[in-house]
Amino acid sequence: MPLDIVVGTQWGDEGKGRIVDLLAAEARIVARYNGGDNAGHTVSAQGRLLRLHLIPSGILHPACTCALGAGMVVNPARLLAEIDELASLGVSVSTERLKLSASAHILTPAHLALDGAEEAGRGASEIGTTRRGIGPGYADKAARRGIRAGAMRDPEAFGLLVEEQVRAAGRLLERLYGLPAPDPRQAHGAYAGYADRLRPHLADVGAIVAEVLERGENVLAEGAQGTLLDLDHGTYPFVTSSHPTAPGALLGLGVGARHVGRVIGVTKAFQTRVGAGPFPTELFGGEAERLRGSGANPWDEFGTTTGRPRRCGWLDGVLLRYSSRLNGLTELVLTKLDILTGLDPLRLCRAYLFEGRELADAPPDPRDLAACSPLYDDVPGWNEPIGDVRSWADLPARARAYVERIERLVDLPIRWISVGPEREQVIRRGAPS
Ligand code: GDP
Ligand code: IMO
Ligand code: MG
Repeated sequence: MPLDIVVGTQWGDEGKGRIVDLLAAEARIVARYNGGDNAGHTVSAQGRLLRLHLIPSGILHPACTCALGAGMVVNPARLLAEIDELASLGVSVSTERLKLSASAHILTPAHLALDGAEEAGRGASEIGTTRRGIGPGYADKAARRGIRAGAMRDPEAFGLLVEEQVRAAGRLLERLYGLPAPDPRQAHGAYAGYADRLRPHLADVGAIVAEVLERGENVLAEGAQGTLLDLDHGTYPFVTSSHPTAPGALLGLGVGARHVGRVIGVTKAFQTRVGAGPFPTELFGGEAERLRGSGANPWDEFGTTTGRPRRCGWLDGVLLRYSSRLNGLTELVLTKLDILTGLDPLRLCRAYLFEGRELADAPPDPRDLAACSPLYDDVPGWNEPIGDVRSWADLPARARAYVERIERLVDLPIRWISVGPEREQVIRRGAPS
């Protein structure tokens, strides 16, 4: 059995967690490969509502090992809080069930403080980061001065490394930004304690994944964020600092390309973005509020990690085609189709108008996206609630037509359609070829 990769095709929050929970039933390992606790993945099943930030979304499946890959940046305080929170919900996260790559990088209080300081320093051109220290953490990794999780094997030595890092970063915070620095001694003590608890989880995740694949079992790679937030291929500079795209899974887990099976793109039936950056199909006012929801429902479009209202708009077929090409998608999963009930007409962006010309593909420079106007196809909407529908044939004809229109727009099959946040609220459309 292969490595199947689940990626978000938009700007994150496509419903990856909910889909990974569904597909994890068939997997021996579910592994996160990028990002850190900037992610917020929601799983609603077995009467529980989990909001996961670091722990993979397969955690509700007892036979599934969950792994954090080398490509991640991990805040140990947040990881332990998540383990404890799951325990309080009756979900055991034993050392057998959760493996942490020794090559993953560690985030310290200095990274969080620097994230905030850098954002403040950007003024009006701020990115709108989650302020979880992600950018500064990956910057340290690239500059080869990061601290890797493997250092936790010796908690005291690890505490000292963290103390030195916090002291060095503190000088920057004070001198460059005029901000107070976190206390290095306090960080030392706290991090030695985290190491003591986390070191039994340390593992060679690449080797474990390879062994399971060689045995013929299935591994599911869970992307965080989304394709358009990829550091190299997203809407730079309004991106995250990791590689949420499918190729990121290979590097981020340490597994070879020959193992890849399906590349599953999770796409919301409309478009959302949290944080700054271009968004050609963005809606404002009442239309945006209708897609966002008031915040009364847990699935309304407010950030899982930061609570910020998400920007909302119509589904962007141009960017979806780009995402398909970049990831080498084999299929799509469409989420939140139920939210479109009652909207008529529905609009699908098929091309852009840019400098008087029609563009079928995204412009090569993402900064030009801001000057692209969407050209829409209008599609008739439906009024029937669809949350209880479980078969393709039972969907209203107009909902089927909308789904098929998306398939034609991106030339990909939509294999699953999610019609609500609960595990069961899904329509399966035929086995993959
Ligand atoms: P992720 O970051 O990609 O895992 O997505 P989030 O969990 O941040 O955001 C998706 C939200 O939509 C969560 O609150 C999910 O419970 C919810 N959700 C997922 N699929 C559906 C669906 O088909 N319908 C509805 N109404 N909500 C959904
Ligand atoms: P999941 O996995 C949506 C966005 C931030 C900001 C940009 C950079 O739940 O889909 P960062 O803190 O990563 O340096 O912020 O990326 N962002 C997300 N947006 N979903 C996410 O994760 C995100 N993780 C980061 O809002 O615009
Ligand atoms: Mg999310």
